[in-house]
Amino acid sequence: MRYGHFDDSNREYVITRPDTPLPWINYLGCEAYFGIISNTAGGYSFYRDARLRRITRYRYNNVPFDFGGRYLYIRDNDNGQFWSPSWQPTRSKLDKYECRNGMGYSTISSSFAKIDAQTCYFVPLGETLEIWKLQLTNRRNKPAKISIFSSIEFCLWDAQDDATNFQRNFSTGQVEVVDGVIYHKTEYRERRNHFAYFACSAKLAGFDTKRDTFLGPYRSWDNPAAVERGKSFNSIAHGWAPHGSHHVKLNLKPGETKQIIFVLGYHENPVDQKFAPPASQTINKKTVKPVIAKYLDAANVDAAFQKLREYWDSVLGIYQANSPDVHTNRMVNIWNAYQCMATFNMSRSASFYESGIGRGLGFRDSNQDLLGFVHMVPARARERILDLAATQLKTGGAFHQYQPLTKRGNNDIGSGFNDDPHWLILGVGAYIKETGDWSILDEPVQFENEPGSEQPLYEHLRRSFNYTLERLGPHGLPLIGRADWNDCLNLNCFSDTPGQSFQTTTNKDGKVAESVFIAGLFVFAAKELATIAAKRNLNDQSMQCLKEAEKMEKVIYRHGWDGAWFVRAYDDFGKPIGSKKCDEGKIFIESQGICVMAGIGLRDGKAKRALESVNKHLATRHGIVLQQPVFSKYYIHMGEISSYPPGYKENAGIFCHNNPWIIISETMLGNGARAFDYYTRINPSARENIGDLHRCEPYVFAQMIAGKDAPTHGEAKNSWLTGTAAWTYFAATQWILGIRTSYDGLIVDPVIPAKWKTFTVTRRFRGNTYIIEVKNPKAKQRGVKNLIVDGKELPGNLLPISPPQPKPIHVQATLAG
Ligand code: BGC
Ligand code: NOJ
Repeated sequence: MRYGHFDDSNREYVITRPDTPLPWINYLGCEAYFGIISNTAGGYSFYRDARLRRITRYRYNNVPFDFGGRYLYIRDNDNGQFWSPSWQPTRSKLDKYECRNGMGYSTISSSFAKIDAQTCYFVPLGETLEIWKLQLTNRRNKPAKISIFSSIEFCLWDAQDDATNFQRNFSTGQVEVVDGVIYHKTEYRERRNHFAYFACSAKLAGFDTKRDTFLGPYRSWDNPAAVERGKSFNSIAHGWAPHGSHHVKLNLKPGETKQIIFVLGYHENPVDQKFAPPASQTINKKTVKPVIAKYLDAANVDAAFQKLREYWDSVLGIYQANSPDVHTNRMVNIWNAYQCMATFNMSRSASFYESGIGRGLGFRDSNQDLLGFVHMVPARARERILDLAATQLKTGGAFHQYQPLTKRGNNDIGSGFNDDPHWLILGVGAYIKETGDWSILDEPVQFENEPGSEQPLYEHLRRSFNYTLERLGPHGLPLIGRADWNDCLNLNCFSDTPGQSFQTTTNKDGKVAESVFIAGLFVFAAKELATIAAKRNLNDQSMQCLKEAEKMEKVIYRHGWDGAWFVRAYDDFGKPIGSKKCDEGKIFIESQGICVMAGIGLRDGKAKRALESVNKHLATRHGIVLQQPVFSKYYIHMGEISSYPPGYKENAGIFCHNNPWIIISETMLGNGARAFDYYTRINPSARENIGDLHRCEPYVFAQMIAGKDAPTHGEAKNSWLTGTAAWTYFAATQWILGIRTSYDGLIVDPVIPAKWKTFTVTRRFRGNTYIIEVKNPKAKQRGVKNLIVDGKELPGNLLPISPPQPKPIHVQATLAG
């Protein structure tokens, strides 16, 4: 069952009915002002930080699931009938409905009682505001007298406090209404210098800023009193729930179209110029007025929209593939890249499954997100790397998360996730390979955000490396700490108290439990650091990295190899986890993926063996599950992993994030068909036809698909904000299609299904555009032996870095097997 279709030429997903199995969402904004919008106009907006600077209110876990958002009402003033052009909240039966989710915008179109409405929501580049451009057309053969009402609920800034501290909040709300613009200024009188505003391009018939007056007692958004009676109350909020609603009256001739623009924005004033007149408590509107005026003008709105489209042309144009597989093409060229932008911006903070109040930006998560983002806006990747590194501890450990607004490490969650530091090495490596910007390693960066503690970024990487060497356990494997990549494998936690956080509660000193995963990650990162050091002529350090990597490899062989796969960990009793010796959880995906990606076992067949085991024990038609057999009960010495019912999340769910590790590993062994098959199993576009089972958006990856032990095997959850975005993008672009960045240039090393006859990739890289055509006449899966570059033969498969040329460079490659 489908709920829409892809429109690849417009880079849109077109949702054709509003009652999707779950809200199918999109992100607005990609710089500082962000919004989440559902296919029925639900969602909310915030400035930079979903928790600390929330602009509009949203109630999570609502009934219906998605209720509250950027709502408009249309009212027929002849008969009093009213409806929502985005279906919600009135849910009137629309004659037509369509939601086009595009790159940074959503357009919801509908028709009811022969009135067509189309609303395009987007955030102009470089601004801290969102536009709702509403277009109304009268399809009747007589004039229509209609009213439009807008509706948003302001959040009192800190979304956590907003949802809990009612004894205070019900008294603090303040607004101003001037020249038809609604200003939300709660707490502006004291410590804030920012306010929100909601403006409308049409002359107002009225407005409301008191939610409870607009709705009326015991009513909800499906039946607001103001809309029902066809007249605003012109209410001014004093405390309670500040709200923004404009009322516009329109007469539409038969066939006539009219446009109304709404602008919802965030604005900051200099602290010493907050008020005008200075002695008053009135917002100084001097700097905001021109912004509002600009975007109430349709020509400027259209120009801004055009710019947004051009921005995405440019960003997506950096890597474009034309392969025989439509699902690969649209993921690589459009949606997966787009999702990588969202995960870069949000980390795991704000989606319909992440409340925006729970987590800031994750250290591990954000570093991995770079893998899929670094080529898109390298300058922002650079800034992110430096911000992340500044939250690193002097020990080389890391704050597990930081708040994007303050850029400070989050003390509540703290540190002790012993895999964290290594992801920084991999993130920095990816950045330098893309950009050649070696200077980043010399940037002075603080530790623990402490002024005066600055050291070159390179020193941070060294400390990441040493962190593990200083924390080895009884087998010589890295101690796991609170957890490694798998946040739910909590080997030092022993939690028996309801409500305790598995991640932060630690009652063991943690000197025994070890992680084979971190061992593999260490080898992976140490080799990267060795290359970086060698490139900087630090040969001793480079050798040391390689030596330690080799030592760790030996330890893995000795204590981390189980005969047919890599062990996962050792618990607090020194017993293996992820071993044939275990009753449940005999084999885990993570250690297979990370060890093979680190190059372990490539030469002696262990890698091959491990991947065969993955195929045999973990692969399902919906993707590869995290471990088998599933944990059928709670194991106190393993923690959260066994708290999930069988088949869900980390308990043998298809945790999509690490499927690409296996995909990459398969390509390293040259198994193009299998790599591609695994990729297709989780590719949301390829799952579009099973929308009733999959349920999440078919245009973005989900964090999890229920595993084979779950009653709902194949059902996806937690779409959008997942490491799956970056890793699948990385796997598809750099390992299957095989156009891979390196310190020395672009490697052309596709590993594809033998039946693919040809494909092309256009790649902008270090100032040049390469048009790479890969031919596969002999039906091989890999094996580029030489390249024809602008007609000249070049041995090997590396396109060396060359000075920027005005014309694209044409490259031909043939798979020789
Ligand atoms: C989830 C993990 C997540 C962790 C930390 C757990 O409940 O299952 O996927 O990483 O919480 O937020
Ligand atoms: C989600 C977290 O964001 C990520 O850091 C973690 O690796 C996975 N869950 C697995 O637990």
